[in-house]
This record gives sequence, structure tokens and C-alpha cells, in this order.
Amino acid sequence: MILVIDFGSQTTHLIARRLKEMGVKTKIIHPENVCRGIDQTKARGIVLSGGPAGTYETNAPTVDRAIYNLDIPILGICYGFQLTTHLLGGSVVAGKKEYGPVIIKLKIKNQRSKILQGLPKKFVVWMSHGDSVIKLPKSFKIIGFSDEIPFAFVENTKKRIFGLQFHPEVEHTQYGSQILRNFLDICGLKVGIKKGEEFRIKNLESGIKEIVGEKDYVIGAVSGGVDSAVAAALTVRAIGKRFIPVYVNNGLMREGTEEHVRRIFKQIGIKPIVVNVVGEMLKKLKEITNSEQKRKIIGNFYIKIFEKEMRKLKAKNLPVKYLLQGTIYSDVIESQGTKHSSKIKSHHNVGGLPKKMKLKLLEPVRNFYKDEVRRIGRKLNLPEDFINKQPFPGPGYAVRIRGEVTKERLRMEKKADEIVLSELGKANLLSKVFLSFPVMTNAFSTAVKGDGRQFGEVVAIRVVDSRDIMTSNWTRLPYEILQRISSRIVNEVPGVSRVVYDITTKPPATMEWE
Ligand code: XMP
Repeated sequence: MILVIDFGSQTTHLIARRLKEMGVKTKIIHPENVCRGIDQTKARGIVLSGGPAGTYETNAPTVDRAIYNLDIPILGICYGFQLTTHLLGGSVVAGKKEYGPVIIKLKIKNQRSKILQGLPKKFVVWMSHGDSVIKLPKSFKIIGFSDEIPFAFVENTKKRIFGLQFHPEVEHTQYGSQILRNFLDICGLKVGIKKGEEFRIKNLESGIKEIVGEKDYVIGAVSGGVDSAVAAALTVRAIGKRFIPVYVNNGLMREGTEEHVRRIFKQIGIKPIVVNVVGEMLKKLKEITNSEQKRKIIGNFYIKIFEKEMRKLKAKNLPVKYLLQGTIYSDVIESQGTKHSSKIKSHHNVGGLPKKMKLKLLEPVRNFYKDEVRRIGRKLNLPEDFINKQPFPGPGYAVRIRGEVTKERLRMEKKADEIVLSELGKANLLSKVFLSFPVMTNAFSTAVKGDGRQFGEVVAIRVVDSRDIMTSNWTRLPYEILQRISSRIVNEVPGVSRVVYDITTKPPATMEWE
């Protein structure tokens, strides 16, 4: 068992997932409960997660120093490394900031260090830090550095304490799994070769049955996306016709979404209720420019719609008690899902919901990442083209139009989106990229069209590669495709003056602009 101490990182849960995939039991624990936790679990190793605080802040989370004398290997990641430094007599300052890819170089003479087994001299890692270590505690030595920071990878060999300024748990860090595997080896834990399956369909089904019981009904918020369809397919297996899917057409979804919903639910074997609120939705968003406010308005409106459907069904003697949502773990953590974490944005199905609701939430895939949800979908025999469909945010185009969502700007966004999708489709790239979309940036620039001046909106194109959503890289699209997308958008979408390509990694930039 490895104890993962959670200082509020966006990726604490991901650290545990990586270790579990290697066949190791993990327990995530708040730093305040640590010594008690160690007594209970007899941990073979401890991982200290990252976190948003600075070790020098007054109320920064900390941990009982006694852990460093337990004679258990410790791996500090980002904040966990900085805290270790701080507690053991080194120094941390608000210093060099690094977000995204950085090259790490290992000190060759330390190659024999067990934590470095199987690593090349140089590799790319993902950083996400605003503070840096500037002085190491006694008996620690540097084993890896970047051009910007000298203390990127450190160890105290004798005490088996290791510090990483980067994140080995994210998919974009090369050799991240190898570093974690080396750490487990140092802990004396046998690492499984085969990736463990983190779910069993039967267990997911029985979990739903246990919550819902024998009589109650569930209505499901289905969006035409993978997460809600997988959650729905599991619920149908668990409670059959006591599940009723509802698709809300709010006019903010991609063209063809309603047909997709009908098709997938035909296969799942249940007919969805379709509610049309296109006009009302736009009215509610009138003059709203703040993205958090948009999400809250949409979240609240959705709940009102589902409560109305619940009343209608209750009038037919169908006791609806639960609302099924396809919430996944990245929605939860970004909406501030753990004690010490920061809120990145209120995903409309988590932080965007009203405080008081008449329906209870049922979220069977809440603890899974996107790639895991896709694997569950495959096990449920959902069609492959559907499983590989691009994610689309619940609040739809509303979060891809910066500023007010007017009819005109919605029309521009839809047309530009159609162009991006069709050009990627023609180039056979659609199924290869994780996400692609244009953003109405609400920035304006000058264009010359037919000898006349036009002052129109700047459209940004965002295309990214990712698997689990926690990190992403911008897709290196061929220039010819970028050119075609740009030409078609400025020519075919009235009101657009310029097209730019977003080349920012996550972190720091989230995939969506809002
Ligand atoms: P970000 O922008 O947070 O996006 O890097 C990660 C994934 O989440 C989707 N997304 C949302 N989905 N409600 C949702 O259901 C939301 O409010 C929301 N915001 C972002 C985004 O499209 C991407 O797949």
C-alpha cells in the first residue's frame, strides 16, 4: 500500500490511478490525518502530491515532520517536494515559473541511483509551478535539472527521499511511469506488468442498483456525448426501464446532436424524451458576459427543466428521485473537488448546479477519466465511432463564444465549427485529435476585403491531443490544413477578420477558453 498525501493538486487522483495501474494499492489522505493514516495502513511508501499553495504562506497545508523519520521511502511531487525542502531546512521562494513541457537533463554520474533506472539522459517532462526550491536540505543532492531550474529532480539516497519539481503522473511527461515504477521498486513493491482494469461492469451496475433501490426512477441528462451515454448504458443495465433519458436541445449543441442521441439510445434500447428550449436559452444568456455566470445560468436552467420533467413523470405515477449525470473526474477536480484544491472553473454539471435541488444526483462514472470512460463504453459494446467522438462541453457553444452569446455570434461559431470539422474530416484527422473547435474571441481586428476596410472578430482555432484531459498538447496540424481552415473561415463566415491558431499547452491554458 502506498499512501498519497493530498495537498490539493489537480492530479492527486491521477497519481493514485497510475500506481493502481501498476497493481499497487493506494490510499489518498489529507495531510492533517497523516500520522493516524500511516498507523492504520502500514504504508510501504508515501507520495506527497502537488498543490496550489506556497510553502511560505501562512495557512499553507503541511504535514507532520515525523513522516521523514519513519524509514519509509518518500516521493515529493511539486508542492510535495517544496514542502519536504521547507520542512527539512532548505529554502523555497516564489521564483521561476514553468508551465508545460521542459527538458530535464540527468546528472550522469548519478545514473546508478535506483530512481533513475531505465531513464535516458534527457527527456521531456511537464511542469506546473510558480515557486522553486533554491537551497536543498542537508544530505540531498541534485540528480536532474532543467535550463531554468537547478533543483528539478533530487534525492536523499540514504533516507530514500526523492523530490521532483515536475509531474511524473501526467501522460505528457516522458518516462513518468518509469519513475513511479522505480519508486515502487525502492519501496519493495512488485510492479504488475499488465495494466490493471480499474473497473468491473458488474460492480458499477450493482453500485447503481444499491443507490436507486427497487422502486425509484431515474431521469438522465444525456448530451449525445460519451460520458452521459456510458452512464446511461450502465443505468439501463442496472434498473432497465426505470431509467428515462432526457435530451435538452438548447441550441448550443453541435449540428446533428439530436440524431446522435436518438441513434445511440436506439442501440441502448430506450427512447429519450427531447425537450426544446432553444429560444428560452438564448434569452437567459442575453447580456451575460462572465463565463462562470454563463455556466451557473445553464446549470440552474437545466435543473429547472429536469425538475419539470420529474413532476410530469410523477403525475404518471413514476416516482422519479434521481438525476443521472455523466460527470467524470476531470469535471470534479476542476470544479474544486478536494479539500486543498483550487477552483479552475465550475463545470456546469458540478460547480454550476444550484445549491438546493429536488433531484438527487446519480453519477456512476464520477471517479473515472475520459480514457477509462471510453474503455467502459467499449465493454458495453457502444459503437466505436461514438466512443471516439470528440468531447463537447455541456454548456456547448456558450463557452466557446467569449462575451455575450448573441444569435449572430452563435451562427458565426457554428459555421466556423462546421468548417474546422469538415477540413479535419477530409484530411482523415478527426478521429486522431482529441478536441477541435473555433473560439469567438471577442477581440476585433482590421481586414481588407475587396479594397474595403472591415473591422471584424478574431477567431482562434484550438486543436489538442490528450487522453485523460488533465494535460494536453496542441496538435501539429499540417500548414496546408491550417491554411484551408483560415481561408474558408475568413471567406465564408461574415464578420470574421482574422484566424489565429492556439499553440498553448495545458497547463497552463485549459482546453476551452472559458
Ligand atoms: P478544460 O477547458 O477544462 O476542458 O481543459 C476539459 C474538458 O472538459 C470540457 N468542459 C466542460 N464540460 N461542462 C462540461 O460538461 C463544462 O462546464 C465544461 N467546461 C469544459 C471541455 O470541453 C474538455 O473536454
